[in-house]
Amino acid sequence: MELKIYKDYEQLSANAANEIADLLKQKPGAVICLASGDTPKLTYQLFAEKVINENIDISNCTFIGLDEWVGIPPENEGSCQYFFRKYLFEPLQVTPGQTYLFNALSSSFEEECKKMDETILAKGGIDLMMVGIGMNGHIGFNEPGVSFDLYSHIVNLDETTVTVGQKYFNSQTALQKGITLGLRHFMESKRAIVLANSAKKAGIIKKALEDEISNHVPATIIRTHAQGVVMIDEEAASLLK
Ligand code: GLP
Repeated sequence: MELKIYKDYEQLSANAANEIADLLKQKPGAVICLASGDTPKLTYQLFAEKVINENIDISNCTFIGLDEWVGIPPENEGSCQYFFRKYLFEPLQVTPGQTYLFNALSSSFEEECKKMDETILAKGGIDLMMVGIGMNGHIGFNEPGVSFDLYSHIVNLDETTVTVGQKYFNSQTALQKGITLGLRHFMESKRAIVLANSAKKAGIIKKALEDEISNHVPATIIRTHAQGVVMIDEEAASLLK
């Protein structure tokens, strides 16, 4: 694993955007799994600008959505699907056939997970998984206590996730379950990147990088990924030894 510390959020986001763009220049048919959330917003904006300015062909790549709030419809602006459409798919004019997102309203989540796992397998695995880190150390909705061996699965959301997750919604929203890619996907992805910015992430970044590797802090798993990179700004790095 490699640790990269950038001066600020802008620098971090510019470098993260370059990671996605460089991969697509080398491998136009890449399979890319991205997260929603506040952290990657500027990354996606800068990535979209690069695609347009540098005329990067993204018509053959695949975008996989990392996770979703179960029961939250796609038109709700707190849903991950809404986020992906607004910050990525619409600015980039990505065609629906290139995107694979969990259906939060599915009648069978078991089927939904199976479908996602089969899609990833059929496409030859994930080339790049770029994720954020939750305040409790989660990756996607791989909450504390999760098995490192899982592919896609349904989870009961951790209390911290339910509380912190309210920031994405316009009004108080009942959040109970999530559907997420698993840490096995994360470990099997050819490159895995965790992004974090701001002082509020300093405590959990310290745990992710300095605590014993265990499912108590799921993000500690990044340290066992040979092609893992942690990209953070100076504020998020401020508590590191
Ligand atoms: C959320 C999402 C994750 C996201 C993480 C960090 O709950 N499920 O996909 O990466 O937590 O979010 P943020 O970037 O808003 O801090």
